[in-house]
Amino acid sequence: MRGGRKPPLPTRTRGHARELRHSSTEAEQRLWLHLRAGRLNGLKFRRQHPLPPYVADFYCESVRLVIELDGSQHNEGVDETRTRFLESLGLKVLRYWDNEVLQQTAAVLEAILGAAQDRTLSPTPLPEGEGLKQKAQGGCMSEKVSKGYQSGFANEFATEAMPGVLPEGQNSPQQVAHGLYAEQLSGTAFTSPRHSNRRSWLYRIRPAAMHHPFEAMRDGRFHNRFNEVPASPNQLRWDPLPLPVEPTDFVDGIVTIAGNGASSEQSGVGIHLYAANRSMQGRFFYNADGELLIVPQQGRLRLATELGVIELEPLEVAVIPRGVRFRVELLDDTARGYIAENFGALLRLPDLGPIGSNGLANPRDFLTPVAAYEDVEGNFELVAKFQGNLWRAQIDHSPLDVVGWHGNYAPYKYDLRRFNTIGSISYDHPDPCIFLVLHSPSDTAGVDNIDFVIFPPRWLAAQNTFRPPWFHRNIASEFMGLITGAYDAKAEGFVPGGASLHNCMSGHGPDAATYEKASTRDLSQPDVITGTMAFMFETRRVIHPTRQALESKQLQGNYYECWQGIRKHFSGK
Ligand SMILES: [Fe+2]
Repeated sequence: MRGGRKPPLPTRTRGHARELRHSSTEAEQRLWLHLRAGRLNGLKFRRQHPLPPYVADFYCESVRLVIELDGSQHNEGVDETRTRFLESLGLKVLRYWDNEVLQQTAAVLEAILGAAQDRTLSPTPLPEGEGLKQKAQGGCMSEKVSKGYQSGFANEFATEAMPGVLPEGQNSPQQVAHGLYAEQLSGTAFTSPRHSNRRSWLYRIRPAAMHHPFEAMRDGRFHNRFNEVPASPNQLRWDPLPLPVEPTDFVDGIVTIAGNGASSEQSGVGIHLYAANRSMQGRFFYNADGELLIVPQQGRLRLATELGVIELEPLEVAVIPRGVRFRVELLDDTARGYIAENFGALLRLPDLGPIGSNGLANPRDFLTPVAAYEDVEGNFELVAKFQGNLWRAQIDHSPLDVVGWHGNYAPYKYDLRRFNTIGSISYDHPDPCIFLVLHSPSDTAGVDNIDFVIFPPRWLAAQNTFRPPWFHRNIASEFMGLITGAYDAKAEGFVPGGASLHNCMSGHGPDAATYEKASTRDLSQPDVITGTMAFMFETRRVIHPTRQALESKQLQGNYYECWQGIRKHFSGK
């Protein structure tokens, strides 16, 4: 563990144990009083938390910290085995005698807080003028940026969690400062044009090559088998993925719902849902098949990556580049959302054409974490997604050990609420590409592998027009999700956490109720759409639902009915 700070208290005093044989419950209650409801610096502790085969007295998921209180009921040998086991999961275990909690409460709390801070992958601030290229910014962004992010889209970032890590004037000196290893991580071909070339140099405690051999994991719900069943031209819609009952982390909670193309072709997309109820414990993940665009719908996530920490909440999205290793921690009891796995060219900001030099998603609102690392050893698991399959390898240290890095290949997040929405102020709304946040271009100019489009709060002021999305059939295929609120083309049935799929040339558009309302409404006042955020993964290729998506209970068998009530108005006269 970084920093080496230890609790200042003796954690074993036999004499005291006898004195407080009967007060363990009281000690637990006392400590719980100070830990509950985020009272200790906002840390969320749970009491009597199961970590099979054990139950921890207190547990904080975000920093993976266990606190055990010992009265007389524990026995030295058993406790040691138990501690060793918990530590093998990458957890930090603190043990206190009950009397310490009762008689030195403040010191115990201080020690717990110190240990929690050591467990936090928080960046070490650099002294003034020390190498970090990020400048503090004014206005409302300054607080967010100074909390551990660098602003800008795919900038040449440079960041170090310890002064003097980054070599001056070169990438790979004979010896890196602090005994670190230099490693390049390439996200594009070496020979890609300069404007699209992406790579970063990582300075780390151990090279990424250092792990045991990978073994295939058995087939699960997270895969790229898009040809299991024929794609139909039917409009499809799903209810939200249920939250898990059994302990399920982010990787185990991913369910592939649809996709096209293949990683091996470097083209196409995997579309997944996730639902989890616990943090990844003692395991790390990377995806060699594509970058991951994560769209949380419920529950905050902490993405501890090799290149730093991203805290993510619904209405924000994050992109984890291909190959970057990370761990997902839940900051709330449960988490659910959507993932686009992009096999094609890296997501980028669209050109703006006549819109000008500003608008839609502005580059400065993209946030990349500053360097942060952990120096932890244990019996861990590294899970890789490679060519559509999951593989696992034993690794004896945390791979999140990059102490400094520079380059333009790094994870980032974006707050969808910052999207500068542009629309019609005369008649008829523009095509939905006006809401394009990020896209992955294909080899054909103007035809994208994937578009990430949002339908954010906005004013609809166009006159003499049908304001909601019109009826349409497109050559592109559209997978939609709803993060919050209601979508303006569907009055019912499309709920937050749900999804819909309208494939190439499948007719769709507003449902009957929405049409009747919007076609007769008074347009003298604008419609103010608030409290909503829908999105679309739109692709050039047909999106094939997986077998598990078509056989799931969440598939709505009656979706087609929403268009059956559309009235005939034509009288022939
Ligand atoms: Fe559509």
